[in-house]
Amino acid sequence: MPTIESILNETRVFSPAKEFSTKANIPSFEAYQALCAEAEEDYLSFWAKRAQEQIAWHKPFTQVLNDQMAPFFQWFGDGELNVSYNCLDRHLETQADKVAIIFESDDGEITHSTYRDLHQRVCKLANALRSNNINKGDRVIIYMPMRIEAVVAMQACARIGAIHSVVFGGFSAKSLHERIQDAGAVAVITADEQVRGGKRNPLKSIVDEALNKVDAISVRLVVIYQRTGAAIRFDPVRDVWWHELTENASLQCEPEWVGAEHPLFTLYTSGSTGKPKGVQHSSAGYLLGTKQSMQWIFDYKPTDVFWCTADVGWITGHSYVAYGPLAMGATQVIFEGIPTYPNAGRFWDIIQKHKVTTFYTAPTAIRSLIKLGADLPEQYELSSLRLLGSVGEPINPEAWMWFYEKVGRSRCPIVDTWWQTETGSHMIAPAPGAIALKPGSCTFPLPGIFAAIVDEAGHDVENGKGGFLVIKKPFPSQIRALWGDPERFKETYFPEDMGGKYYLAGDSAYRDMEGYFWIMGRTDDVLNVSGHRLGTMEIESVLVAHPSVAEAAVVGKPHEIKGEAVIAFVVLKGQYPHAEEITQITHTLREWVAKEIGPIAKPDEIRFGENLPKTRSGKIMRRLLRSLAKGEEITQDVSTLENPAILEQLKYPAQ
Ligand code: PRX
Repeated sequence: MPTIESILNETRVFSPAKEFSTKANIPSFEAYQALCAEAEEDYLSFWAKRAQEQIAWHKPFTQVLNDQMAPFFQWFGDGELNVSYNCLDRHLETQADKVAIIFESDDGEITHSTYRDLHQRVCKLANALRSNNINKGDRVIIYMPMRIEAVVAMQACARIGAIHSVVFGGFSAKSLHERIQDAGAVAVITADEQVRGGKRNPLKSIVDEALNKVDAISVRLVVIYQRTGAAIRFDPVRDVWWHELTENASLQCEPEWVGAEHPLFTLYTSGSTGKPKGVQHSSAGYLLGTKQSMQWIFDYKPTDVFWCTADVGWITGHSYVAYGPLAMGATQVIFEGIPTYPNAGRFWDIIQKHKVTTFYTAPTAIRSLIKLGADLPEQYELSSLRLLGSVGEPINPEAWMWFYEKVGRSRCPIVDTWWQTETGSHMIAPAPGAIALKPGSCTFPLPGIFAAIVDEAGHDVENGKGGFLVIKKPFPSQIRALWGDPERFKETYFPEDMGGKYYLAGDSAYRDMEGYFWIMGRTDDVLNVSGHRLGTMEIESVLVAHPSVAEAAVVGKPHEIKGEAVIAFVVLKGQYPHAEEITQITHTLREWVAKEIGPIAKPDEIRFGENLPKTRSGKIMRRLLRSLAKGEEITQDVSTLENPAILEQLKYPAQ
């Protein structure tokens, strides 16, 4: 994580190379400024023009922004479109035989799918879903391995106007169940198993477990893609094999034309309460954001081979795998596996083999690959690369420099892209032909995005001072609602004490004297572990649900590879554990969290105490726990603590 010191000491600047700029979609700083000025002058016309250029409308819109129900904004509200039509049919006339997806499986098998082929697969599944009475507005859960079929499933839902909700394959039955229930899903699309790094994960049996929970009755169809052929339990009423379902389905499927604001999907993400929230996105505004950023930030060219390494279970895999690249008609790589299998050269091998031009990954992957083979990229031919990208968490300048020098061979700009599940597409990121880069800074907002840093009352803070990151004006790809919870939506993102007008991102940030943005981290109780959002409350509520736990508090601690590590402070019921019991109970609780949420949420460390540091009014003092987790001396005032002696007991991990 960059600290204020490392940022203040960062003076390196990398200006765009002339060869890059001259061909770039935004070719100079002046061109970038001109776009910003255009948006500044009349931002409704600015976005209307982009929406007309980028989207194939079934019925053109006449209204640009409707803010009468603010903060429930509507963009292009009376227009009609279909997102799948925009991603597939639109390319059939001009480039049906262009490869849309180069797929590489975990064990190295490679397949190429053209736009024609992808269109047919999507139509078949869409027809099959329709004939099972899955229609516009129905919710469909997708719990799939990272394969072409996951994208086909998402696009098929979009085609018939069903609202998909992808759940990352690493989530547990309980997490899956919660999401199925919250969404009121009628169908689940899954696979028999998932294979990553040679390990199998039994997705279908996790689905069974989730559906067996008594109240998951809304689901009437489970579609199973056969990945490994492993034996599964098959419910003759509810379950159906993907290949059987689609076998005789037609290759043509009339898209469902939907209003611009029709929800394209919901995606669950962690917030500051124990309950994940269903972030709801629109059709047109979302599509516009992903497409426009493909052009401005990824500087998309028709000859590109684009590779975003994110799983479709996260927003990055939605915007820059399932939608953005297809909307552009790009050729992209989809990879089923993990960067370290069968060895730490796997990413570099894929780039070399498929001649990837644009490579977009997360700092945590970069840091782990540095550790496993800092010089490894040198052994590969990476000259096809022209642009690198980073997403999900702050990138420390050291990792940035390694990425730049070893992977990009000091030729390729790095686009450090700040955005969120809620923003749908890039918000602050460099247009690579226009902006001089500073390692660790996501640089400047995209044209039309009015990002700013403000204090608690919503007033601008001057450059050089930290504050809350907000976006002052609505933008097309922004979150439309939290599924089923309008109040939480308003309170979380448009809080009254900041005036209720600005979108509050939940990050603290800082602008340097030249106006560059530097993201410092979350301001709420959300951790960023390996680029994945985890709510501390979510982990705490799972811990206290274990029969031996009386109380728990979870905080983050900086971690060299993961960015942040999860540290849990636990009070057990009954006696403080003996030394020999601690290993066992630590193991039990870690496995419990993995089972209840998913392995990504497993605490890295658990410290036991007879109680937790609390104020006299009973509030847990988390900042003290954060200091303890980091191993810092406690310099804070502890006079308000009810039980100061406890600090000593929680100081070190139990042996
Ligand atoms: O804290 C910021 C961090 O990730 C959060 C959003 O997480 P999520 O919704 O899961 O989306 C991740 C992928 C877009 C943000 O609030 N974050 C994301 N990108 C960056 C970042 N922090 C610093 N620099 C980034 N480039």
